[in-house]
Amino acid sequence: MNFFRKTDSVSDKNLIVVDSKNIDLEKLGLEGNSLAFVQKKIDADETQILVNLYDRFLFIIIDEAKDDYKRNETLRKAGASFASTAKSEKMETVAIQGLNGRKESILAVAEGLALASYKFDKYFTKDLDKIQFTLKNIELFDKDINDTDLNELNAIVDATILARNLVNEPLSYLNAVQFAMDIKKYGDNEAGYKTKILNKAKIEELGMGGLLAVNKGSIDPPTFSILSYSPENAKNEKPIVLVGKGIVYDTGGLSLKPTAGSMDEMKSDMGGGAAVFGAMYAISRAKLPIKVIGLIPATDNRPDGNAYTPGDVVKMHNGMTVEVLNTDAEGRMILADAISYAKEFDPEIIIDLATLTGAAHAAIGTQGVVAMGNADRKYMDALHKAGNNTYERIAEFPFWDEYFEQMKSDIADMKNIGGKLAGAITAGKFLEKFTEYPFIHIDIAGPAFIPADDAYRTKGGTGVGVRLMYDFVKNYKA
Ligand code: BES
Ligand code: MN
Ligand code: ZN
Repeated sequence: MNFFRKTDSVSDKNLIVVDSKNIDLEKLGLEGNSLAFVQKKIDADETQILVNLYDRFLFIIIDEAKDDYKRNETLRKAGASFASTAKSEKMETVAIQGLNGRKESILAVAEGLALASYKFDKYFTKDLDKIQFTLKNIELFDKDINDTDLNELNAIVDATILARNLVNEPLSYLNAVQFAMDIKKYGDNEAGYKTKILNKAKIEELGMGGLLAVNKGSIDPPTFSILSYSPENAKNEKPIVLVGKGIVYDTGGLSLKPTAGSMDEMKSDMGGGAAVFGAMYAISRAKLPIKVIGLIPATDNRPDGNAYTPGDVVKMHNGMTVEVLNTDAEGRMILADAISYAKEFDPEIIIDLATLTGAAHAAIGTQGVVAMGNADRKYMDALHKAGNNTYERIAEFPFWDEYFEQMKSDIADMKNIGGKLAGAITAGKFLEKFTEYPFIHIDIAGPAFIPADDAYRTKGGTGVGVRLMYDFVKNYKA
């Protein structure tokens, strides 16, 4: 999608107008029957009114909600609801005009419309005219919108869509090597972060036993991508380090997932890695003045003659040993090495994003992300704020030390699974052991991949975590 700022006339364009109930309908060129039609709906307190003017469409959004974080979400959803009309009418350009003097409203409508106009269509060979969205340009008519707003919107929307594309890509395209190469390509060509890809030899040299253990059953080598963004005007001394789970496919390994349905969506098990990639893309393309590092360990997890087995003991990057009792608890094995490796950067804070547990999904469904951590309260408060701003809301779980009792092993420093209860938290407590730095763990297993469209969150990969982390970094106070 391309966003533009415009000041010419809107009178001959497909137009979305945002205003209060006192909107001047005559000034919009409405008269006769259409004027009466719209006025009646406004009087009946409708807030989204679609008018077919035959030579064009007019979509009126009444924006009078209380000014809290839900207001922008209502507007994103209103924007999203126009996407199907834009598609069926084969629109390539839509204008959005703000008449109530609140530029955030226009930006939110534009964001919702753009994110809803998405379909992963790469593999269709037929009927593309019915499948593809036609919308390419969104013109913003609002005198308060500046270059920074525009760049930011372009960066966030592109980043979210690129992250969705990667999540939607099957393993037949996106193995660990391809994932790393795509990450590097977007950094080099579009966004501006630098990428260093560690290959298997380097991963061995560094002793990343967790990543290597999960990779043992794979026919493809693992990768470890290091994304760095360090602007000259950075306000922070120590970087924020983001870590993303990059399991490009999770069969469960020898602890194979039961066939009926549970494996079908597991191409999305690199959703955390995609979120870290997308956040780094948006942050560097929008040139936020904050140093950030992204770490993405990647491999698939599958059974094979050489696969790691329940009972194996693995020596991790930080020297600790882990008894593997379930090869399907593989995410924590690769994340632990990355979280340990993060000390190379002397981070201010480490935040990981991962499709880590079915328990997190079961606990809150798809309406938010699960988060927990040991970092100073100000970080978690800031994360909640980012969650509300972006509507990728935070369900904060307890992080009491007693939960780690479940992870104690008879023969090694810890095991990789806990008991029946609190599975999302015991996974987080496992990860915590691999760093001395302030740590927040975000489990996105619920919302990373959704079974049906939900306004501007489209079916399949959602790109959850991209907007959340962008907003967190943007509002970060060093
Ligand atoms: N990738 C899965 C978690 C998952 C489940 C993500 C459903 C998205 C939707 C993860 O690797 C996994 O298999 N977790 C196990 C851990 C268990 C073996 C301790 C789980 O949650 O069942
Ligand atoms: Mn698994
Ligand atoms: Zn997994």
